[in-house]
Amino acid sequence: MRKLLIGGNWKMTKGLKETSEFVSRIKDKKISTEGVDVFISPPFTSIAEAIVGFKGTGISVGAQNLFWEDEGAYTGEISAVFLKELGVEWVIIGHSERRTYFGETNAGVKKKVEKALQKQLKVVICVGETEEEREDGRAKEIVEKQIEEGLLGIEYDADTLAVAYEPVWAIGTGKTPHPEDAEEMHSIIRQKLGDKGEEIRIMYGGSVKVHNIKDFITQEDIDGALIGGAALDADGFVEMINIAKEIRCC
Ligand code: PGA
Repeated sequence: MRKLLIGGNWKMTKGLKETSEFVSRIKDKKISTEGVDVFISPPFTSIAEAIVGFKGTGISVGAQNLFWEDEGAYTGEISAVFLKELGVEWVIIGHSERRTYFGETNAGVKKKVEKALQKQLKVVICVGETEEEREDGRAKEIVEKQIEEGLLGIEYDADTLAVAYEPVWAIGTGKTPHPEDAEEMHSIIRQKLGDKGEEIRIMYGGSVKVHNIKDFITQEDIDGALIGGAALDADGFVEMINIAKEIRCC
């Protein structure tokens, strides 16, 4: 049985002060993550604070991006080597906001995934169609192409990589696909992943909240959630971890 994976993507929110407040709240709640894998990806500048803070809570720390070179004249970029040195465990690659605002392509995503895995970081690779692509009936084609061009051909162990299916039109909008439609796309992705497909975790992302997470993660091919806005609130985040634990645990 695939272990559920719950990830928080804080995007460009929570500097040091807010990160330490979140950590204190988590510690007050004395949470247990037994049976579920949990990570939070803060902005780069809050990562060190989060790593120290979450120690002993069962929550690992992720990054939201990296660059594919180890070091050099790449102003403003952060390498996998630096993240590993800090103690980062996960990295989100190819998020739709990076594709939209920073011009990331499938080819660039692939280089980043390769580098992250080479440096023993665990990867969440994000895929998903825009509203227009869905309306044109091209959702499946787009997602398959993202997998094909961004991932296929790379060697990895199934427990070091997860896919997040995040329909772009569902991110931060409060709109979500019907859980059964999300399930259908997850099953398409699983087939596309080939031999390892059955072992790889495929998370759903896009307006996941306390009130709807259960509808998604009870679907057969949905193995967790990548949560943006709703992961900013410690109480809600803990509630979602607890819901996951009840569904597929130990
Ligand atoms: P959201 O973001 O939960 O705020 O929709 C999800 C994501 O971007 O990963």
